[in-house]
Amino acid sequence: MIENAISLKDVWKTFDGKEYILKGMNLDIKKGSLTAIIGFSGTGKSVMLKHILGLFPPSRGSIEVLGHNITQFDKNQLTAFRRNFGVLFQGAALFDDMTVLENVCFPLFEHRRDLKKETVFEIATRKLKQVGLEEKHFQKLPSQISGGMQKRTGLARALALDPEILFYDEPTTGLDPILTEMVDNLILETHKAGQGTTSVMVSHDLHAAFRIADYVAMLNAGQVLLYGTPEDFFKTDIELVKKFVDKGMRHQ
Ligand SMILES: Nc1ncnc2c1ncn2[C@@H]1O[C@H](COP(=O)(O)OP(=O)(O)OP(=O)(O)O)[C@@H](O)[C@H]1O
Ligand SMILES: [Mg+2]
Repeated sequence: MIENAISLKDVWKTFDGKEYILKGMNLDIKKGSLTAIIGFSGTGKSVMLKHILGLFPPSRGSIEVLGHNITQFDKNQLTAFRRNFGVLFQGAALFDDMTVLENVCFPLFEHRRDLKKETVFEIATRKLKQVGLEEKHFQKLPSQISGGMQKRTGLARALALDPEILFYDEPTTGLDPILTEMVDNLILETHKAGQGTTSVMVSHDLHAAFRIADYVAMLNAGQVLLYGTPEDFFKTDIELVKKFVDKGMRHQ
């Protein structure tokens, strides 16, 4: 039994050979947890996420995901390994020329060529219903549904392959408060329904992070400044964390 879904050990990253964006990052993300990644803008949150997804190779250090050191994988192994991931970025990034249902079928047709067409449709339908989308919207194009429904569709697509790990990068940035709460609750419900799924969410929204996450990691200048439960964050003595949390909690 692997305790950590993700384990970064002394990860360094430079793009230009001069400036380091990740500077010896260490982070363990517990299997089955919902972990929020927070921190000032430009501090390396998205870069770290892309390392875990295998989209960037580290300059040094190791990255273990589900017990595999992915830094040793070649391109094909990485592509195959990404079946374990569901990803929802800021924009839902749906295919504009495909219907809602086709969008959710897409990863299944890509990765599960063993499945019959009807089975793919069945799975996609189940996923869309799970995230609360009504059947009458399934044949619409993304431009014909609301922003909230687009998010639900994006999430259904991320769930299509029953991923072990779900990643969210700024899932609510730019949304109105009501939609934000809906998406946050959807993330929490999806996490719970996953039974053992690990969820990793990068968020600017500290209220949401502290409300729904089991663990929070604050990054700063390419390192983890504090990792702990939301409670740990409220009683920390680290000045920079206190400042960030006070400001973040006041401004929303
Ligand atoms: N592909 C890349 N090539 C070169 N530099 C990059 C690349 N991607 C990111 N960076 C740099 O890495 C630094 C960290 O960026 P990153 O996107 O991880 O920040 P972030 O913490 O996600 O910020 P935000 O909260 O604004 O999303 C930035 O200085 C950025 O310019
Ligand atoms: Mg980012």
